[in-house]
Amino acid sequence: MNLGSLLHGSSRPASPTGRTIGTPRMYDLVTTVLFAGRRRQAFSALAVASGARTGDRILDVGCGTGYFVRMLAEIAGPPGSVVGVDAAPEMIAHASSRSRSAANVSFEVGSAGALSFPGASFDVVVSSLTMHHVAPAEQLAAVQEMRRVLRPGGTLLIAEFQAPTGHAWKLLLGPTGLTAMGHAVPHVEALVATVGFTEIRRASVPPVLQYVRATNARQAGSA
Ligand SMILES: C[S@@+](CC[C@H](N)C(=O)[O-])C[C@H]1O[C@@H](n2cnc3c(N)ncnc32)[C@H](O)[C@@H]1O
Repeated sequence: MNLGSLLHGSSRPASPTGRTIGTPRMYDLVTTVLFAGRRRQAFSALAVASGARTGDRILDVGCGTGYFVRMLAEIAGPPGSVVGVDAAPEMIAHASSRSRSAANVSFEVGSAGALSFPGASFDVVVSSLTMHHVAPAEQLAAVQEMRRVLRPGGTLLIAEFQAPTGHAWKLLLGPTGLTAMGHAVPHVEALVATVGFTEIRRASVPPVLQYVRATNARQAGSA
């Protein structure tokens, strides 16, 4: 067993919609190591980049243990709300139990390519480190769904790993396969453009993240 299998849960076979993770505690532990103590800093930067504000309705697709959901819930506050969706029931059970004290948070099992929410029901949609888990055949549908559930003018933020530079990072991350993931964000950026998002921007968040941020263009004539 290496760092990659610890991170991704070695015993879980891929489903038709993607590769889920059924080991939430191990995932959080290994992720903490991967971010070298800078997980909170990195996700705070993603929260700022998402433009989330007090009162927003926010969706996190592939929410895992709910780490980012809880952070976004502090920003959205009681007038707002955050929903986390993940295809792994174990992740949703763990995220729900860790978030019991947050009244403006909810979770549900679901797949990125077939979201259960009505159209235009969120101000912000985020998805971190999940697109590389979604089955290739489902990735376009996933981004289409993210656009469908976003209100016109709403913001999408998708974060993925970026290949870190530096010898120490390569030694640490080599066994995970993450150093070969430089293609992930450019691929996501292309999908986001294909489904009609506008104002697309890409940026890095040290030590290991890159994100695409985009706007769900308002239709001509809409308010
Ligand atoms: C690497 S984890 C990321 C978790 C969390 N977003 C984070 O940043 O720590 C990827 C997550 O995507 C979930 N997942 C895999 N395929 C999915 C799909 N088709 N729809 C929704 N979630 C999926 C996995 O179960 C897992 O929790």
